[in-house]
Amino acid sequence: MEVVRVEGLGKTYPGGTKALEDVSFSIDQGEIFCLLGRNGAGKTTLLRILATQLKPTVGRASVLGHDVLAEPQAIRPHIAVVPQEARPQMLLSPYDHILYFCLIRGQSRAQARERTQKVMEDLGLWEHRDKLASDLSGGLRQRLIIAMAMVADPEVLFLDEPTIGLDPLGRRSVWSMLRALTKKGATILLTTHYLDEAEVLADHLLIVDKGRTVFLGTVDEAKGDTGVGMRVIVEPAAGNGSTAPEILEPKSAEEILAIVERGLREKRKVTFKPASLEDAFIKIVGGSIEVENT
Ligand SMILES: Nc1ncnc2c1ncn2[C@@H]1O[C@H](COP(=O)(O)OP(=O)(O)O)[C@@H](O)[C@H]1O
Ligand SMILES: [Mg+2]
Repeated sequence: MEVVRVEGLGKTYPGGTKALEDVSFSIDQGEIFCLLGRNGAGKTTLLRILATQLKPTVGRASVLGHDVLAEPQAIRPHIAVVPQEARPQMLLSPYDHILYFCLIRGQSRAQARERTQKVMEDLGLWEHRDKLASDLSGGLRQRLIIAMAMVADPEVLFLDEPTIGLDPLGRRSVWSMLRALTKKGATILLTTHYLDEAEVLADHLLIVDKGRTVFLGTVDEAKGDTGVGMRVIVEPAAGNGSTAPEILEPKSAEEILAIVERGLREKRKVTFKPASLEDAFIKIVGGSIEVENT
């Protein structure tokens, strides 16, 4: 089932900045769809249009079959949004955060207690329920923010840079949680400028640069389309004075075999490095993702 549909979407901000131009794609139920691009590429703009927080200038977008401009009220009960750099209230416990959220959304006390416990257990937060948010690690804080988005049981979840500033363990814990949510039928659109995050999570990937689509497809297609292949690193032979390793890009099984045979003969260390999304990104966008991130 198609959950999100975007056709020829564009956004020009008052003042003239063209943040998005002619973007089209769709997202199926149960997918993690990653919107990848450098800072300023237009990711937040696109996410906010789909979350009915911002109006497009041209084109159409619909979520769960409802047009974002014509029927935003029909969309909002079914979605949840985690904005860029959301923070919990540091002096509340995780339990109170989620319980109050349920109450604000109109659930009875009994319902709210039951729902809070369920969501906290699902997201691995139950054992931390009585701590202060300020005493949680970054990964747990972000889980708490996501838990608050989850209590309404949204069909579609929009997350803007959900793992920014987290340590590697915290990022992995968020990744596994998001994957678990899609297994239960949720559909997720997340923005990121982390290539490893997109590589691990994305069922489909939209790479935007300066508001335009530069790639739409799977991670494997991104690598395949750009022809980035496996790299083979051959360490220099002992005693020949050179310290620079050779970096080779074999195109066939024969070439790989020849490299391995030479490595054995010359007693050189040979390391295989699979093609990464980073290699593909550099070829697609024409530069590293870090360039404009400073
Ligand atoms: N409210 C706004 N008014 C004017 N320009 C904006 C506004 N929000 C974002 N922009 C501009 O639109 C472009 C895309 O921004 P954004 O969607 O935030 O990108 P990203 O999330 O990929 O970093 C940038 O050039 C940014 O400066
Ligand atoms: Mg952004």
